[in-house]
Amino acid sequence: MEPDDPAEALTELREQRPGALGLLQLAAGSGLAAYMVWALVLQPGFRRVPLRLQVPYIGASARQVEHVLSLLRGRPGKMVDLGSGDGRIVLAAHKCGLRPAVGYELNPWLVALARLHAWKAGCAGSVCYRREDLWKVSLSDCHNVSVFLAPSVLPQLEDKLQAELPPGARVVSGRFPLPTWQPVAVVGEGLDRVWAYDVRGGGLAGKAVSSGVPIKAAPGPSSTSVPGAPVSQTG
Ligand SMILES: C[S@@+](CC[C@H](N)C(=O)[O-])C[C@H]1O[C@@H](n2cnc3c(N)ncnc32)[C@H](O)[C@@H]1O
Repeated sequence: MEPDDPAEALTELREQRPGALGLLQLAAGSGLAAYMVWALVLQPGFRRVPLRLQVPYIGASARQVEHVLSLLRGRPGKMVDLGSGDGRIVLAAHKCGLRPAVGYELNPWLVALARLHAWKAGCAGSVCYRREDLWKVSLSDCHNVSVFLAPSVLPQLEDKLQAELPPGARVVSGRFPLPTWQPVAVVGEGLDRVWAYDVRGGGLAGKAVSSGVPIKAAPGPSSTSVPGAPVSQTG
């Protein structure tokens, strides 16, 4: 019931104030906690990366990892995961024989976690996780590249891959396809989908990005090779 007496109403309001204050404190506390997580856990290492190139951590699902491996298994040469997170793809790649397997990751917490996982798996000395900016590492000796990045950075990534990868290299992109390259194989459905691309012509002059040769993806109901993938050949 509403109090008629203004003095009584004021007293009631005063009594309610701690509740409102409590709510305010809760909101401020949550905001501060969220900021601390962002500043201390998610943000470290990214200060020098332009905002438009920052990609948050979302680990690949077991199925996505499986699909990446189905597209890379048996291939010789160095394998790298650009933005390796907690290192799951690199570790799985190493275990299935892709060597050397290297992860580049800016977030130091994730690099530490990746090393812990490798140590627990008995692979501490064999897999390599480097705390480096993927936009600054040279890819000239990489033959197998895995990327699980945001669509907003993929156009720029395409340019880097095109300019630096040697002919014969394969790129697998998870969740989102490279915007203009033609895949040679696609595995999985929805967000589990992974696209494979073969680099034919390396160097700045090279424009070819797909061998056009259908590759044999690991058996599975959702795997599709792309025999009719358009090929632009220059290299
Ligand atoms: C979507 S997660 C993918 C993680 C991992 N590849 C996986 O699939 O489990 C993207 C990762 O890229 C990292 N990353 C984003 N920008 C980076 C950069 N410039 N250099 C190195 N790592 C970066 C993020 O910290 C994040 O861990």
